[in-house]
Amino acid sequence: MSEIRLSKNRLYLDNAATSFPKPPEVLQAMIHYAEHIGASAGRGGYAEARASAEVLRICRQRLCTLFNGENPDHFIFTLNCSDALNMVIHGWLKPGDHAICTAMDHNSILRPLNDLVRWRMITQTRIPADPATGWVDPQDIRKAIRPRTRLIAMAHAGNVAGTVQRIAQIGSIARRAEVAFLVDAAQTAGHLPIDVQAQSIDFLACPGHKGLLGPLGTGCLYIRPGLEKHLRTSRQGGTGSVSERDTQPDFMPDRWEPGSHNAIGLAGLSEGIAWILQRGVANIAAHERALGTTFLEGLAGVDELRFFGPRNMADRVGVWSVRIEGRGPLALADQLEKEFGILTRAGLHCAPLAHRTMGTDQPSDMAVPTDVGTTRLSFGPFNTLPESQFAAAALAAIASRKTSPVSALHVR
Ligand SMILES: Cc1ncc(COP(=O)(O)O)c(C=O)c1O
Repeated sequence: MSEIRLSKNRLYLDNAATSFPKPPEVLQAMIHYAEHIGASAGRGGYAEARASAEVLRICRQRLCTLFNGENPDHFIFTLNCSDALNMVIHGWLKPGDHAICTAMDHNSILRPLNDLVRWRMITQTRIPADPATGWVDPQDIRKAIRPRTRLIAMAHAGNVAGTVQRIAQIGSIARRAEVAFLVDAAQTAGHLPIDVQAQSIDFLACPGHKGLLGPLGTGCLYIRPGLEKHLRTSRQGGTGSVSERDTQPDFMPDRWEPGSHNAIGLAGLSEGIAWILQRGVANIAAHERALGTTFLEGLAGVDELRFFGPRNMADRVGVWSVRIEGRGPLALADQLEKEFGILTRAGLHCAPLAHRTMGTDQPSDMAVPTDVGTTRLSFGPFNTLPESQFAAAALAAIASRKTSPVSALHVR
């Protein structure tokens, strides 16, 4: 997994925001599209327009294979993960409904639900999580289900503590109660195996630009066959199909994809998924677990550093939130970049309730009360074990307030 090198002296550890680098095949496919295809899918009968439609068809097929869907046409292309989550939250819930989400969720779930609550459309219950592990107890979700509950929406893994939730168990609770189950796979798609059928997932929202290794501006939504009949569309427009009608087509996937596609982005996404299928998502997961184990080993005994989320690699993804008391998360991120060339993200990571749960919404450096949250290091498939060791050594050096004994150049 180490065939790609990062830019010299820079170690990108912000894969939870978007993955970087991308496999060379992704970039080659986008260049090929730009140079030789160019046309808009479904907008012409000539060879280039047909080639564009074929790019989309193959991408859908690969998504369906990766997530074990029933039908490739039930994978809808979206702008990103937030777009996919919004399509379900706003399209599925009706006035008077009740929805369930969790304290570990991202604003991409919290904000659309809150918007509906604010307009008195729905009521909601937010299930708390364990402050140490970030786990949500599936039984708490079961107990929160009411007669008017129509949606359980939650992140598969959190983007702050990296906790993997027990979604198969929650999926079967939801299925038994006939409540739709929307899974936000922003931090797991491409990182962990996901099987929409085995895990009783009704809607799966994924970014294309994170673990699926496509470019920014891509994402997807899986809609379980049959549910599309009950999901309202908030966007209508040209689809290149049934143009004699002035109403939106009712068939998949056109009903959900008005307007021209980001075909060049999808050409890249398709190759990102192919890369994952070729390596095997279980092998990628094993590699990322090894990165985590190495990272933890490198930090053993560094008592000044606090970690959040589970320690057991089987229960988490490679998203690590850390904090050094007395040093603000932003100041720590700054130091990691300036001294070591390590790129991380500091702050609340669009997940305010997760930080409230862990108590990290408060400043760690009282002199800078606005510097709240954690410093987040997030690994991807191209990171290597020496890079993981290097990140741990850098944190250890900063935590012990020594000037760096390691140089950003030593591991590469
Ligand atoms: C858990 C989670 N959900 C949703 C999102 C939103 O993803 P996107 O930026 O693709 O809309 C993110 C982004 O970081 C995330 O981490």
